[in-house]
Amino acid sequence: MKILVLHGVNLDQLGQRDASHYGNITLAQLDDRLQALAQELGASLECLQSNHEGVLVERIHQAHSDGTEGIIINAGAWTHYSYAIRDALAILDIPIIEVHLSNIHAREPFRHESVLAAVARGQICGLGADSYLLALRALLAA
Ligand code: DQA
Repeated sequence: MKILVLHGVNLDQLGQRDASHYGNITLAQLDDRLQALAQELGASLECLQSNHEGVLVERIHQAHSDGTEGIIINAGAWTHYSYAIRDALAILDIPIIEVHLSNIHAREPFRHESVLAAVARGQICGLGADSYLLALRALLAA
């Protein structure tokens, strides 16, 4: 199964960001853990991070025609207001899992809403790197 992992704005700063919410893991370490699990489970995985919304939107568009079979997305702060990313995801007919390292529902009120949740198969949050690893297992079991 071909899986695309999308990391949004500021997720390249993991390791420097507030460890009480995001832990100490860097993005490279997170991607390595995902790649190791994908290899163990026989999936192929591409990871992309961008601080530019349009880059993520265009990569989502490409997913229509490049054989992508599932998406794991942590859109960072875009989660809470990007109708552009939501609309791009909504065009796809493959399972999408929204993930967050922190528990967005236990934080500031503006983080409680996800405009992406309605177009996702499910949402996993609050479990640190395990949010992503569980999402990968869920996609492969789907
Ligand atoms: C986040 C939660 C968002 O509210 C925040 O803006 C992020 C990271 C998470 O993984 O917990 O950048 O998506």
